[in-house]
Amino acid sequence: MPESLQQKLEERLRYYKDLGIRLFYRNRRVGIVLRTGEAKEPSAEQATHRPQEIVLPRPRVEASAIAANARLQRIEPVIASSGLSLFETVEKVQDDTLLKIRDDIGECTRCKLHKGRHKIVFGDGSAKAQLLFVGEGPGADEDAQGLPFVGRAGKLLTQMIEAMGLQRKDVYICNVVKCRPPENRAPEPDEVATCSPYLLRQIDVIQPKVIVCLGAVAAKTLLQTNRGITQFRGEWLEWRGRKLMATYHPAYLLRNPNAKGEVWKDLQKVMAELGLQLPKKKPS
Ligand code: URA
Repeated sequence: MPESLQQKLEERLRYYKDLGIRLFYRNRRVGIVLRTGEAKEPSAEQATHRPQEIVLPRPRVEASAIAANARLQRIEPVIASSGLSLFETVEKVQDDTLLKIRDDIGECTRCKLHKGRHKIVFGDGSAKAQLLFVGEGPGADEDAQGLPFVGRAGKLLTQMIEAMGLQRKDVYICNVVKCRPPENRAPEPDEVATCSPYLLRQIDVIQPKVIVCLGAVAAKTLLQTNRGITQFRGEWLEWRGRKLMATYHPAYLLRNPNAKGEVWKDLQKVMAELGLQLPKKKPS
């Protein structure tokens, strides 16, 4: 491998190491697999038919993380050509806190989203919340204020939270990516891959009883699936030992108010799970 490429690779790997990521795969078409472990020469067969393998000197994938994913109900992760998903490569940070995670993010320039952002939108709410909402990424209002879900969709989310008998300060709200994608486009796979380890750490710190994924991006990211959200919306899923439910994004509800009833049904299931009193009538 040319020295300049080796250097770039090392830099990139140091960055992933800072995030606690120890295992990397790229698909076969790209042709490189990186993993930690002991160096060994590829066989002639591997050299011709398998991706090039670069072995790094830090073994360890958390077996518990792999086991947790194997227990996932109903949703089979499809990022499986390598057998492992990104989250299975994120190591737990000892004594992690939200403050530490925010510090680690710093004035992030790790992906191209930093170029257009004004404020990083880290997350908001109680660090001890039993209920965590995960959205897609900040919009213009969130980017201006540095807080998640404060625009029109956010106002609807706030109403939904209040209809559950809670306040925003009782729950935690964050997003898959922490910087606003230009023109409010969906975050791209490299952006999700760069940012989502921080989301994982946030979830591990907060340890919510229930995670609600707002929309397909959050659901697909956490569940590592390409299945459409309609196939599993409103169903209880197990995710790393926690209960997860995917429902429609509030922005979708602004465009499709008829779907509000479905979301309300989903949130009632969440309320039941959290032991919250169910209201007698549906909010408008
Ligand atoms: N949409 C999201 O997904 N997240 C926000 O924070 C705001 C709008």
